[in-house]
Amino acid sequence: MAEYVQPRGTGIEGRIVIKDDWLGYSLELFTYPEHYHEDIESVYIPHGVIMDRTERLARHIMDDIGDHDMVVLCVLKGGYKFCSDLVEFIKVQCRNSNKHLETRVEFIRLKSYLNDQSTEDLHIIGSQDLSVLRGKNVLIVEAIVDTGKTMKALLKHVGSFEPKMIKVAGLLVKRVSNVVGSLPDYVGFEIPNRFVVGYALDYNEYFRDLNHICVISEIGKVKYKI
Ligand code: HPA
Ligand code: MG
Repeated sequence: MAEYVQPRGTGIEGRIVIKDDWLGYSLELFTYPEHYHEDIESVYIPHGVIMDRTERLARHIMDDIGDHDMVVLCVLKGGYKFCSDLVEFIKVQCRNSNKHLETRVEFIRLKSYLNDQSTEDLHIIGSQDLSVLRGKNVLIVEAIVDTGKTMKALLKHVGSFEPKMIKVAGLLVKRVSNVVGSLPDYVGFEIPNRFVVGYALDYNEYFRDLNHICVISEIGKVKYKI
């Protein structure tokens, strides 16, 4: 399924790299909501693997910034599950190491995809006042990063509130040729450039209620197209 890749330099942690020829596990090997049985092709990353990897990322984050209070900025909607699981693991690790850190969570909502295509423009929807970030250590938590264009725009936006430090955790990074922006400091998995759903990642708002990260089928693409 995957291999481990060494960190490329200081400050960049390793990641799990899923190769181009990985098609995912057969659906028969897992459980998933019955209403999606025609709409997904395979289980690409099982929920348990996501959780185990997230626990490890929480450790990296604690090692780096665990001595300071943190504001976690969850990028909605796709980031809500990763963010909530990551924050839970950070809290458990705090308790186990007897640290008393305040972890505050703020939210920002972005939209840039229609069907399985990126639209040119980034929409910050319902953007609230993020002045609470001023002077704080901010951890941006995003489910998926491809060209990094969205992340670049978001970093600029967040930077305008003058936080002390900004780090980014991305569960998935897509292997694309046209990287134009910033990549996360903490990466769960590097995946081929294909459209995946589940674990809060959607296709036109469908599939967020799927625990595993899956590959959508052609039937699914047509059924939920707008
Ligand atoms: N799936 C869901 N949402 C996304 C993806 C994806 O592969 N890439 C960017 N937004
Ligand atoms: Mg989406």
